[in-house]
Amino acid sequence: MSALLDLLQKRRSIRRYQDKAIEPELLQQILQSALLAPSSKSTRPWEFIIIEDKAILNQLPACRKPAMTWLKDTAAAIVVIADESKIDVWVEDCSIAAVLMQLEAADLGLGSCWVQLRNRQAFDDTSSEDYMKNLLHIPDGYKTEAIIALGYPAEEKKAVALDKLNYDKLHYNDFNKSYTVERR
Ligand SMILES: Cc1cc2nc3c(=O)[nH]c(=O)nc-3n(C[C@H](O)[C@H](O)[C@H](O)COP(=O)(O)O)c2cc1C
Repeated sequence: MSALLDLLQKRRSIRRYQDKAIEPELLQQILQSALLAPSSKSTRPWEFIIIEDKAILNQLPACRKPAMTWLKDTAAAIVVIADESKIDVWVEDCSIAAVLMQLEAADLGLGSCWVQLRNRQAFDDTSSEDYMKNLLHIPDGYKTEAIIALGYPAEEKKAVALDKLNYDKLHYNDFNKSYTVERR
């Protein structure tokens, strides 16, 4: 099995974190993985706001309703934003960069979780996007897609077994024909 498939099985969303900072060299590798992300027409519409300031981390739970209380315990949070004037598919571009950070984090032994901002509501009934724009002084013209929460895990989650995958999702040549995966 490839090292990447093994990693993909092990990556799980982590919502409980140790009170331990992420070493700068690890955080930097996670950010480099985002900057390496493919993007439509190579426009790279994304930008990333790295939050380690505890006073700001404490204000993150209210970005959603109901509040995501566990978010304040993350060691770092990366807010994924995009200049929407650059490309119409900024959502896809941001999503790819975000998930690459999650995979790099998993490879480094760190936990992560995606927190959705786009199309979600904040605790104060504003949009999650406006809440974050206000908190982080994000200029007009930028969209906020998600937060990637990061930290050393304080919970263990099982890797997903390959024989538990939903192979019904696979179609072969025609929607009505299934694709059979021999090696599970
Ligand atoms: C687009 C997207 C939005 C998500 N939004 C949230 C969220 O707002 N809060 C949260 O705790 N998890 C969120 N997640 C994490 C999912 O709940 C999680 O990936 C899913 O339950 C599968 O679990 P796993 O990541 O452990 O495999 C999101 C994941 C994706 C891809």
